[in-house]
Amino acid sequence: MMTRPFSTAVTELFGTHLPIVAGGLMWLANADYVAAASRAGILGFITAASLPDVDALRNEIRRCRDLCDGGPFGVNVSMLPKLVTGEKTQEVFEAIIDEGVKVVETSGRSPEAFLPMLKDAHVKVLHKVASVRHAVKAADAGVDAVSIVGAECGGHPGLDMVGSYVNAAWAAKQLKIPYLIGGGVGHGSQIVAALAMGAAGVVIGTRFLVADEIWAHANYKERLIEAQPTDTDLCMQSVRNTVRSLRNETTATVKAMESENPNITIQELMPYVAGKVGRNAYVTGDWQQGILSAGHALAFVEQREPLKGIVSQLTSEMSAAINRVAATVPY
Ligand SMILES: Cc1cc2nc3c(=O)[nH]c(=O)nc-3n(C[C@H](O)[C@H](O)[C@H](O)COP(=O)(O)O)c2cc1C
Repeated sequence: MMTRPFSTAVTELFGTHLPIVAGGLMWLANADYVAAASRAGILGFITAASLPDVDALRNEIRRCRDLCDGGPFGVNVSMLPKLVTGEKTQEVFEAIIDEGVKVVETSGRSPEAFLPMLKDAHVKVLHKVASVRHAVKAADAGVDAVSIVGAECGGHPGLDMVGSYVNAAWAAKQLKIPYLIGGGVGHGSQIVAALAMGAAGVVIGTRFLVADEIWAHANYKERLIEAQPTDTDLCMQSVRNTVRSLRNETTATVKAMESENPNITIQELMPYVAGKVGRNAYVTGDWQQGILSAGHALAFVEQREPLKGIVSQLTSEMSAAINRVAATVPY
């Protein structure tokens, strides 16, 4: 087991021990989960869109700060245009600044309009995109770092559907700012490979869903443990909002509706894809209902355990991978 903490542009930027980020998780990434990430030496993000209003966000930030005991944490601001209006996004960023949060993970659309206020307040911006070309645009706009998620990811893989293995090496040729690779990452050897290709870290979602600090029902977590990487579906391509999620009754219904009517609207799909349907599944454990984001890293989801245990396994796997590669070098 490696005792020396890893040092990359990402650990320097965020003050973490490991070059691992726990990406925002709608409904699930609350103060308990994010503080567990912080205590495990990685960076997590309270997911602002999960909270009913800005006051609730402020309370969650304060709760997280208490639980983190001085460790780093951030807030995820998912700016999918249909879900959060511009006005509320402004209010959310104002609260984040006001509460002294030092890093945000943005996603959904460009954070460019909010960069001046965030930079003035010395808030670091990690912007998440689903393609190298969008990463280049975000770098030009002035974000501090980017996360690039590939086709394998849980949640929104975008429209290009290029895999993480290609993104990891391709981004090195195109970017001057630090970048993280995500999408299908759930084993320490993949983290070492990403670092070898030029990434400064990785972003993980799916692999962490079975952590004890994730409040969702045990039946849902048991299904994730049973599921194979082939047990995901892609839905909502027809409305240009592709989501990769756990294959279930809802994904079957939505895929059938989309193939029967290629001009289907998001409003028609809403009764099935609405966030509150998914939230209900997390509460009841009925994983057949709702669009429950999950990606190919289901391959590595093994058991329910504290987040610290998962991170420790990733660290041992990183160490083993480094040794394996070192052993192949003849000098
Ligand atoms: C259940 C779930 C919910 C997610 N919710 C969000 C979200 O609200 N905002 C966001 O930016 N990313 C969200 N993501 C994406 C993750 O932050 C991360 O980028 C992604 O999971 C990485 O790919 P992986 O699942 O293959 O590890 C979600 C992912 C999952 C699995």
